[in-house]
Parts: sequence; structure tokens; C-alpha cells
Amino acid sequence: MRVLVVGSGGREHALCWSISASPLLTKLWCAPGNPGIAAVAECVPIGALDIAALVGFAQDNEVDLVVPGPEAPLVAGIADAMEAAGIPCCGPSRAAARLEGSKSFAKEIADAAGIPTAMWQRFEDAEAAREFVRRRGAPIVVKADGLAAGKGVVVAMTEAEAMAAIDSIMDERAFGDSGAAVVIEEFLTGEEVSLFALCDGESALLLGSAQDHKRVGDGDVGPNTGGMGSYSPVPVFSPALEEACFDRFIGAALAEMAQRGTPYRGILYAGLMLTEHGPKLIEYNARFGDPECQVLLLKLKSDLLPALAAVCDGELSHFDLRWQDTHAIGVVLAARGYPDAPERGSVIRGLDKAATEPNVQIFHAGTEATVDGRILAAGGRVLTVCATGKTLAAARESAYRAIAQIDWPEGFCRRDIGWRALRT
Ligand code: AMP
Ligand code: GLY
Repeated sequence: MRVLVVGSGGREHALCWSISASPLLTKLWCAPGNPGIAAVAECVPIGALDIAALVGFAQDNEVDLVVPGPEAPLVAGIADAMEAAGIPCCGPSRAAARLEGSKSFAKEIADAAGIPTAMWQRFEDAEAAREFVRRRGAPIVVKADGLAAGKGVVVAMTEAEAMAAIDSIMDERAFGDSGAAVVIEEFLTGEEVSLFALCDGESALLLGSAQDHKRVGDGDVGPNTGGMGSYSPVPVFSPALEEACFDRFIGAALAEMAQRGTPYRGILYAGLMLTEHGPKLIEYNARFGDPECQVLLLKLKSDLLPALAAVCDGELSHFDLRWQDTHAIGVVLAARGYPDAPERGSVIRGLDKAATEPNVQIFHAGTEATVDGRILAAGGRVLTVCATGKTLAAARESAYRAIAQIDWPEGFCRRDIGWRALRT
């Protein structure tokens, strides 16, 4: 198979790394990729949102399967464009990707399918939104309805914060048209879990679950980020609970989407909050999580590629994936200033040495290579240092031992990834 992965982050590096091990693979490209990905795939300088160029490339190179990593090309219709050109694409259509692209659409699907989620209301009028906040009080959660690169959610602990969020999202349009409407919802508390499945429109296959660390600082403080680290399995999410949530949050959404004539194909990610009243949906995403993807793929024993192809063929019900009985962890190394204003251009040394630590795998995200082969920071989240172990504690020790080998004074990481599972 000739495969094109789209994207340039740690998630896409992990996808390329996993796909590159497939005996079915004859050629792997990644657009645009990064210097880490270049070790396992040929990088093509086409941006993830340049859909016309990606279709042209796939046609010219007789690509058999396209695997988009991030949400933006999916919401922009990459799967529809590939399908129109006769190229299988492992991702939802634009209509199905609305599960991520519109928070209110996801909520409508949840309500229609009886999927438990926080109480919510959508507002196109900022004054009506403010009135609602005044009536409900804080804490309360304000979300831009559209895509905002993971930044359009404000968990407001005070009414003033909620008002400021409405000002910024709706009046100042901090996220452009994504803020033409907001969803305001009930504040939920509990442990968060990310649940993943492959879907072929009718059937779903469990990919597993992981816990992310969204806040930038140790102990879960500071601003929300794309994710500072993850681990799997998650002790509070027992296999029985995982199975129940798979039916309740994945199966039910899949059935509702099919019934509406917009079947969901691709990776479906349910972000859940384990509340005292049971698990509730926080959001759907139309893709793998980053850095959840990295830790899940480290545990995958089976060949990923035929499973991704089965998504397009509607053959998933014949599939079974096998997983290693290990613990996996991923620690994100970010550039100083992330998430607000990451500094770019600093030199990262010691990566080769760090990669020789046993049970460690390093995935690149925001890196760039100079002509003389040095690696520079070129984004917010720069690397995901992953490790496996017999226990989470052992995996964590390996990951931080590898990090200690990396010479990058301008970078930082959280020192407590996995703390919720290890605190007892
Ligand atoms: P999202 O971008 O939708 O994943 O939201 C970012 C983060 O905001 C989530 O991971 C949660 O930590 C938090 N969040 C979102 N919705 C709620 C809610 N209803 N109650 C509490 N926290 C929430
Ligand atoms: N790590 C969370 C996400 O990918 O949305």
C-alpha cells in the first residue's frame, strides 16, 4: 500500500512510525511532516490545509490510503475531496466531522441519542449569553461553537471570567467566525478520560483510552494547552467501564450519525468526565488525541494499517486489534512561553542519546532541521518523549530519564505526568 499521512505533529509522527512497521506498506509520505517523521516517511512540502494540492499529490502518486491526523483538514472536507477523486481516506466527511467542528452540533447529537452530557445552551447573541451567565452564576463553561485550535474553551470559576470569555469570543472574535456563537454549559467535575475508537460508519472498534494533562503546570494549574502528557491504561477507567462507555458514547453516536445519513468513518475520540453521577461527554473529536495517540500506538501489537484501510472498506466488524499488556506514558516537551507565546529557534541537543534509553520512543512535533543537521524548536509543543514499562511508575522513570539526556535549556515539561494514577 502507498500511504499519505497528513499533518506535522507528534501524533502524526506516531502514526507514521506505526504505519511504517506494516508489512503491507510499500511507500509512505507525510505532508508536511517534520524532521522526526523524515526518518520513517518521505516528507512532502504541502500544508495540511492545502486540500487541492494534497488530492493532486495523491492522484499523481497513486496513493492507496490517506490518513489525516489533525481536525482542520477534516472539517474543511479533505475526506470528501479525496473520495471525489476515488482515493480512500481514513477520516470523516465534512458533514460527519461537525461532531468536532461544531460544539452545538455535538451536543444536539448527544441529546438526540440519549448520551449523557453537561446541560447546555447555544447563543448567537452576546447579550443573551451574558444574561444566561448572570442567571446561572459561576462556575460555568463558555465555548466558542466552532474550531479554535483547542483554545476556545474557558472554564470560568467566576462570573467575571465568564463575561470576559463572552467578550473575547463573541465581541472581539478572538477565534474569528468560530465565535459567531457560543455554547455555555454546566461545569462538571471529575477525572477526565479520552476514549478512542475506529469507526466505519456502522461498526466501531475500540482503540483504548488514555488520560491527558491539559493544563500547562504541575498539579494541573495554569492555562489549558493541547495536552502536556498522557498515559494509558487509566486505573479509574476499568476495562468494564471502558466497555460500557464504548457503547454509550461511541456506539450511540455512530448509530445517530448513520440514521441522519452522515455515517461517521474514521477515528472518533470521546472526551469524558467521570462525574459522581457517572461518565459524561465533554466533547467529540474527529481524530486521534495528541499526545494520547503516541501512548496508545506504543501499546499496539497488531498491524495498524489494515485496520485504517478497513475504515474505508466498511470491513471493521471483521477486525480485532491486539495490545501489549504494558503501561505507556508520553511527556510533552514544550518551548518556553507555550501556550501563549512559545519561543522559536533554540537548539535541541542530545536527542540521539536520549533515544537509546531502553523502552523509550521520542516523537517530534514542532521541530525543524537546519542544513547542517541540527534540530531547532519550531512550535509550541516540540517533542513527546514516550516510554513503556511493566508499571506506570517504571514507564515514567524511563521517560524522565530520557528527558534528562536532552540538552534544551529553552524547553520545559511537566514533571508530574501520571500523578493522578500514582498518587496513592
Ligand atoms: P475542550 O477543548 O472541549 O476539550 O475543553 C478543554 C478542557 O476544558 C477539557 O479538557 C476540560 O478540562 C474542560 N472542560 C470542557 N467542558 C467542561 C465542562 N462542562 N466542565 C468542566 N470542564 C470542562
Ligand atoms: N490531547 C487532547 C487533544 O488532542 O485534543
